[in-house]
Formats: sequence, C-alpha cells, structure tokens
Amino acid sequence: MLLADVAAAQLERARAGIAKSAARMHEKGRLTDDQLAGATDGIEYVQGLDGADLSDVGLAIEAATEQLATKLAIFADLDARVPASALLATNTSSISITTIAAATRRPQHVVGMHFMNPVPVLQLVEVISGLETTPAATELVMELSRELGKTPVHSRDVPGFLANRILMPMINEAFFCLGEQIGTAEGIDTVMTLGMAHPMGPLKLADLIGLDTTLAILEVLHRDLGEDKYRPAPLLRQYVAAGRFGRKSGAGVYEYEAR
Ligand SMILES: NC(=O)c1ccc[n+]([C@@H]2O[C@H](COP(=O)([O-])OP(=O)(O)OC[C@H]3O[C@@H](n4cnc5c(N)ncnc54)[C@H](O)[C@@H]3O)[C@@H](O)[C@H]2O)c1
Repeated sequence: MLLADVAAAQLERARAGIAKSAARMHEKGRLTDDQLAGATDGIEYVQGLDGADLSDVGLAIEAATEQLATKLAIFADLDARVPASALLATNTSSISITTIAAATRRPQHVVGMHFMNPVPVLQLVEVISGLETTPAATELVMELSRELGKTPVHSRDVPGFLANRILMPMINEAFFCLGEQIGTAEGIDTVMTLGMAHPMGPLKLADLIGLDTTLAILEVLHRDLGEDKYRPAPLLRQYVAAGRFGRKSGAGVYEYEAR
C-alpha cells in the first residue's frame, strides 16, 4: 500500500499516527501480530507521486484538503497515472462527486468514500455515487467498506451528502451561540453531551474536524444549496482567519498542546 502526501512533515505525522493507533489496537486484541506488522511495515510513504510505481493500483483513495481546485488537480493527475480499470475514491466531506469525476476520463469509476474521524474508532463509511458512477463501482466500495469492518450507508450526490448536511448546521449554530455569548464554549458543549447524550460537544468536535475544514464544508453547503440557513457563523470565519484551525494547529475554540 502506498500513502502519498505533498508535505514530508505530514507523512511523518501519518507514520507515527498509524503506528500508535495500530499498537493500541494490537494491545486490545483487535489486531493480530500479522495485521500489526502490515500496518507498520506494509505501507510505503511517498512525497508526491512522481517516481511511484502505480501500475498495479486497483483503488486510490484521495483525502487531501477540502478545496475543489485541489481535488480536480489530483483526480486529473491520478487518472493519467493508474490503470484504466482502477477505481478512484474521494474522502471529500461535501464536494460534488460528479464534479470531481468530470476531471477524469473514467467518471463511471469515481465514488465518494467518506470515512468518519477518528477513522479507527468510528464505524460509518458514507458511500456516494456521482451522476455517472456505475452501480457495480458503488457496490465494490460498499463491499470493501464492509471488509474493513465498517458499516456503509449510501447517499445521493448532494452537497454535504447525509452526514454533513445534518451535522454541520448543528456545529454552525453552536458557533452562532458562542458568538452571541448565549453561553460559554464549555456550557454549549455540556448542553449537548449531558443534555443530548452526544459523546462530544459540537465545538470540541469542530476542533477535532479542523475549523478550516469545517468552514470549507459550510461554504459548499451555503453556496451549492443556496440557502441562508447554511451561512457560516462569523466567529468561525474569524477563528480560521486567525489561524486557529483546532487541534491540528494547537488552538481552536479550545487550547491544545501543539502537535
Ligand atoms: N477532518 C475531518 O474530520 C474529516 C472527516 C472526514 C472527511 N474529511 C475529508 O478528508 C479530506 C482531508 O481533510 P483534513 O481535515 O485532513 O484536511 P487537511 O487540510 O488538514 O489535511 C489535508 C492533507 O492533504 C495534504 N495535501 C494537500 N494537497 C495535496 C495534494 N495535492 N496531494 C497530496 N496531498 C495533499 C496536506 O499536506 C495534508 O496532509 C477532506 O476532503 C475532508 O473533507 C475530513
């Protein structure tokens, strides 16, 4: 298996994160010795795709920054590099699968494969078919998700699909409440954890997702669905403008130890 990123530091972070999470799962008896070895030694980390051997790729999963231009460039490039029979999947949280697929010569083989964060913990994979995606390609991704021990749920290709169409308005409303000083961040999160039995409050969850990614998803919902109810909260915009991206940058709504 090949794991590619444009940034060397991110490859190191991925390597360390995978090793840590695999070791934890091994300790709990959820991974065999062989599976642990596969997770730590079976992945080749590459900076960029130039020079990588992609001749036997059957499935590529893209999980780069939530920006349309980035996705289009990656898909046009991947399309030229991997065998014509390969499936191309995207982990996008909100961007149109149909639009991404149109950057390739194989739109019938492009599928949304939306993993939930943190991936080793959460069971769901949202599977999205674009306008041209064949039922066979969709079913292959559903089946692969099951083989990975996940539960796939199919969504039509609409902005935000199912998961973020429902989740993002709640997170956005939490930022409006914080901006209007209706309560403190801790108070807002406690209302949802203790009052609604959510495992994590919406502001803490937004910090986990990344406030830049959260804003990017809300902008897609707002622009593509064209309804004011998806307008990103000004406070969310401000945090992102200030470089407070959440856990990954050391500060978001809350403060974290820099990673
Ligand atoms: N953050 C979440 O909780 C979450 C959950 C589910 C899905 N997603 C989706 O996963 C994708 C990534 O989200 P993120 O929050 O990790 O974004 P991010 O911007 O924090 O990280 C993106 C990674 O992609 C790399 N990258 C950027 N351009 C690239 C390119 N051209 N080629 C290769 N690598 C490139 C970056 O170096 C970085 O390591 C997005 O589509 C997002 O919607 C995110």
